[in-house]
Formats: sequence, structure tokens, C-alpha cells
Amino acid sequence: MSVVLITGCSSGFGELIARTLATHGHRAYASMRGVSGRNAEAARRLTEWAASAHVPLSVVELDVTSDTSVREAVEHIQSTDGDVDVVVNNAASSSRGPLEAFSIAQMAALLDVNVLGGMRVNKAVLPAMRARGAGLIIWVSSTLGRVLVGGGLYPASKWAVEGFAESLHHQVAPFGIEVVILEPGSFPTPSTSNAMRAEDQAITDAYAAVPTPARNRQLPTDGSYQPPDPQEVADAVLEIVQIPAGQRPLRRVVGPQHTDGVPAYNQAYEQLRQHMAEVLRRPDQAVTWGPASDRR
Ligand SMILES: NC(=O)c1ccc[n+]([C@@H]2O[C@H](COP(=O)([O-])OP(=O)(O)OC[C@H]3O[C@@H](n4cnc5c(N)ncnc54)[C@H](OP(=O)(O)O)[C@@H]3O)[C@@H](O)[C@H]2O)c1
Repeated sequence: MSVVLITGCSSGFGELIARTLATHGHRAYASMRGVSGRNAEAARRLTEWAASAHVPLSVVELDVTSDTSVREAVEHIQSTDGDVDVVVNNAASSSRGPLEAFSIAQMAALLDVNVLGGMRVNKAVLPAMRARGAGLIIWVSSTLGRVLVGGGLYPASKWAVEGFAESLHHQVAPFGIEVVILEPGSFPTPSTSNAMRAEDQAITDAYAAVPTPARNRQLPTDGSYQPPDPQEVADAVLEIVQIPAGQRPLRRVVGPQHTDGVPAYNQAYEQLRQHMAEVLRRPDQAVTWGPASDRR
């Protein structure tokens, strides 16, 4: 049984992940912002479900953009159940519109949720994980953050997630802490309806005639189309949590749509990364971190 903190549990994958982990006996802290405000109904729904299903799930307030909110949530868990064993950085916002049409303030706000939000949570749990020499951080990225098909603010933020998560992986692995980057393809969740819209309409209009892969997509209308089930993502998280420590993969792709070739890409990337690491170990490639005067 692990103590698991999941962010963004008011809907979509987050809610399913919390329910799935709790159903399998893990102590699930289903966090969300606005527990007594915007998400009061979602919080009530999950709390009532947990009570009727007799599963160890609690809803906790956590806004990933607030240092105070993150700290208070982690302190609450520590004082109730001890240290957090597993974090699932799931909370994020998607975006709609060409990159140029977002203000810098909008870009900063989206990056604050999608990228720094996860880092806020990680920084709150890492000291205890390092002290114990154990822990698991699962970061929900996207195959769109690996392969920038049409580009955009959201895919760019997920590319940044990949960078932060992988950097963390290399740096915390020596402490016995694992990082897993979960890369879902496309699933029907509320994410698109909640997307941040680019605020400059004139620039958005200027891009309207530019063809994008998604704009030309036509789903079959004869009833043959079966949308992928978001539960697949929750099941993948459960599987990762239950893999014995030290054996978890760095990346895990999940889903039938928009995932083609991504596992092979990840494998090729990993081979290249290992090659680069070999090269950097050669004496003639040594990187010197001392003051500039030492390097002359
Ligand atoms: N659906 C897909 O096809 C897909 C594919 C690949 C990856 N993903 C990723 O999967 C994750 C979950 O998305 P989803 O598809 O399940 O969409 P979703 O239902 O919209 O879930 C996003 C969650 O993030 C929360 N959130 C946003 N800002 C927050 C903040 N400041 N603090 C705390 N929570 C915040 C939302 O809460 P509020 O209700 O309060 O806004 C919501 O619960 C995201 O990381 C997304 O990028 C989704």
C-alpha cells in the first residue's frame, strides 16, 4: 500500500487515477483546487463514492500554482498518513489557438500550471523522499509533447514537462527515487472544453486559413468509431505504481490514438542519450564547472 498524492482530480484522468488506486488499496489523496468553491461538486462526488465503496480516498485542496496550497496539502498528508510515497503530477490546462496569439502573461500562466505546478509538488515531497531513499514521481505528459505535430502552446508546455521530468530522473535516481513520464495519446476527457483560448482574436483569424492536421480530421459518422477509454490511463498508472521499485521505465506510452511509433522513438532517443553520456565521459570532452579562471 502506497500513500499517493494525485493532482487535478476534479475530472478526467485525475479522478479515474484516484478511484483506481484507492480501489486497489492505495491511500489516495485526490487533490484539486477550489474544493469548497469551483470544484465543490466534484469533491463531494468523490468523497461520497469513497465512503460508499469503503476505499481509502480523501479529497484534499491543492492548487498547483500556489506554494502555500501545495505545502499545506503535503503537510496535511504527512501529519495524517506519513510521507508521500508516490506523486502523480496530472493537473494541467490545454490551449487553443496559434502560439503567436497568446499573450506572454497567458503563456506564463499555462507554463505555471503545466510545468512549474509539477515542480512545486515535487519540491514539497523530495526532501522526505531523499531522506528515505525511496519515492516515485509520475508525470503525466503527452505524446504531443514528444512529437510536435502541429505545434502550439500546450504541446510546447508538455515538451518542457519532458525536459523537467527527465532532468529530475537523472538527478534523483542516485537517491533511490524514480521518475516515470506517462505519455498518453488522445482520449476523450473535458480537457479540450477547458482549454485556454488565445486572447488575440485578430492574430488567431490570420492563422485560420493555415491547414493543421487536426483541422482536416473527420471522424466516421457511421457509428464505427470507438473512442479510446480514459480508464486505460488510470490502469497504466496503477501498473507503474505496482512495478517493484527500481524496475520502472522512464517513459510509458499509453493509448491507441496518436501513439504510433512513439515507443520506438523513445527507444532510439534513449540509445542516443546513452551514446552522448559515453562521449561526455571521455577525458577530452570533460565539462569543467569551476570558476572561469580555472578553465584557462
Ligand atoms: N485527454 C487527453 O487526450 C490527454 C492526452 C495526453 C495528456 N493529457 C494530460 O492528462 C492530464 C489530465 O488531463 P485530462 O485530459 O484528464 O483533462 P481535465 O479533465 O481537464 O483535467 C485537468 C485537471 O487539471 C486541473 N487543474 C488545472 N489547473 C489546476 C491548478 N492550478 N491546480 C490544480 N489543478 C488544476 C483541472 O482542475 P479544474 O477543474 O479546477 O480546472 C482538472 O482537474 C493533463 O496533464 C493533460 O495534459 C491528456
